[in-house]
Formats: sequence, structure tokens, C-alpha cells
Amino acid sequence: MSGSLLISLRHIFAIVASAYDLAQNTGQDPCILLHGHSGSGKTEAAKKIVQFLSSLEQDQTGNRGCQVEDVLPMLSSFGHAKTTLNANASRFGQVFCLYLQQGVIVGTYVSHYLLETSRVVFQAQAERSFHVFYELLAGLDSVERERLSLQGPETYYYLNQGQACTLQGKEDAQDFEGLVKALQGLGLCPEELNAVWAVLAAILQLGNICFSSSEHESQEVAAVSSWAEIYTAARLLRVPPERLEAAITRRVTETPYGQVSQSLPVESAVDARDALAKALYSRLFHWLLKRTNVWLAPPGEGGSIGTITVVDAYGFELSSLGRLGPE
Ligand SMILES: *[C@@H]1O[C@H](CO)[C@@H](O)[C@H](O)[C@H]1NC(C)=O
Repeated sequence: MSGSLLISLRHIFAIVASAYDLAQNTGQDPCILLHGHSGSGKTEAAKKIVQFLSSLEQDQTGNRGCQVEDVLPMLSSFGHAKTTLNANASRFGQVFCLYLQQGVIVGTYVSHYLLETSRVVFQAQAERSFHVFYELLAGLDSVERERLSLQGPETYYYLNQGQACTLQGKEDAQDFEGLVKALQGLGLCPEELNAVWAVLAAILQLGNICFSSSEHESQEVAAVSSWAEIYTAARLLRVPPERLEAAITRRVTETPYGQVSQSLPVESAVDARDALAKALYSRLFHWLLKRTNVWLAPPGEGGSIGTITVVDAYGFELSSLGRLGPE
């Protein structure tokens, strides 16, 4: 990334104004790096910056096009969670690249890094998983809940480990409405929305799959204790249940003589189940961002484009900055 890095303790809008000036008048591509401890307001500041820059666009053109502001509820539902330090902590790093043309924001690119997928399968005491799961369970109507075989959050191992399913001051059902609006705004059709809910519901089912240990050819191997969750998860993911069961209880190795399939012990089966849940969540998040970026892309005509980059630096702490520099 070429251009200048703005480091300042000034008011946030003053920083954005200088970034805007640099981009406009010197042809540089400034970068604003937000850095600080959990709960210090990095993500909130990023939101304010994006809102401020979007408002410039509105002033000049009068009409309101695709704006990154509209996708923020999606990013916070899928990327935020309650931690012990912060009830609304972002659990990924985000970078907004805003494209400027003749002083107007014409598009945005949102990228993410270090999504904390381990949270999908594990939470410490008093912590929650990503907001979206609780919002889905609180906000979905009863017909849809039934179709997706959904129950209350306490019934899911992936949601209740922290014993903090309800979060005071957060209206999960109301935030679900905001999420649905944001996703519809991105152009997701009803089938795509249903597919998003189905993947989330399948992840929750996966977490409730339990294994017992049985002996097979004098080895301890994992056997699925109850097939109910396998059947439901398989139905939601539209895969044959036997394939899903095999994927989490067996390991297939390629050898020069063909494939060898081996039963896993319970501990490895649990790992395989969790790995599948994390991969599903991460792919879903990635897919949603891809859709976001298609929607927010600049039109690709009308001459040169400058950029202002905003880095919301989750994962950087002072002590680690040194290690992150170029080798
Ligand atoms: C969580 O943080 C995001 C970003 O700052 C904000 O847009 C959202 O409204 C917050 N949600 C709650 C429930 O406070």
C-alpha cells in the first residue's frame, strides 16, 4: 500500500478530513490505522469514519447509492461476540478500502482477516459465540424455526458453554430484523437467505452430535451416539447422512494402493466435527463478504481513482506490533 499513514490523537473527523484532503489534493492514498485495547472503540470509530465519508457522497450527488454503512449490521452480527471484556467485541480484523473519484466515494472493498473461528465451537465462561446465532434463534418466526428444527440457545452445546445465552441490553430479535434488512439490501433472494439460516442451523446441530467409544478390531473407535442430529444436519446441508457421519468418524488416506479408510477415536471425531463447523462458518462469512464486495464495487468507469484505507486492527496489540513488521 503506497501513501501516507496518518497517526494522530486528534478528533476522529479531523483525521478523516486530513485523509480526504491528502487523497484529493496530493494524489496520495492515505491509510488510517485504528489500534487499541478491546472495548476502546476501534470498530465504532471505523463505523464513524465510513459514515462520515459516505455523507460527503450524499451531499454532492443528492442520491444515495450502495453504501458500506448498510452492510455494517451484517458485519457485526457475523463478526462480533460477547467476551469478558466487551459485550460487543469484534472477533476479526477488518479493512475498508474506500474508492474516491473526483471527491466522491464511488465504491468500497471490505476485507477481513483472523476471523476467530474457534469461538464457533468454544466459549469461555460468561462469553458468547457470534451474535448471529442468538439473533437467529430470537428473531426467526415459528414456522421457519420448525423447518430448520431450531430450539432455544441453551439447548446447543456450541452456544451455552459460557452460560450467558442472553445478553443484557442487547435485543437479539430486533438485531435479527436489522440483519435480514442488510442481507436483503445486498440482494440476497429468499432462497439464499434460507440457505444462510440452514448453514447456521446445521452448525448448531453438529455441535450436539455426541460419540461413544466402542471397540473395533481391538481398537477404541468413535460411534455416533444418536443419529437424530446427523439426520437433521445432513438434511439442512443437503448431503446424505451416511456421508456426513463418515466425514466426522473416519479418516481417509490416499496411498499408492488407493484410499484407506480408518475409524477415528472419540477425541479425533470431536475434532473433526468441530473442524467442519468452523469451516462452514468461515466459508459462509467469506461468501457474504464476497457478495458485499460485488455490491459495493466501484462502477469501473470515469477515470482515475484514489483510495482511503481504514484498518480496524483486531489482533494487533502493542507488544506484538514489533513482531508483525517486515522480516
Ligand atoms: C456493536 O458494534 C457495532 C460496531 O461498532 C455497532 O454498529 C452495533 O450497533 C453494536 N451493537 C450493539 C448491540 O451494541
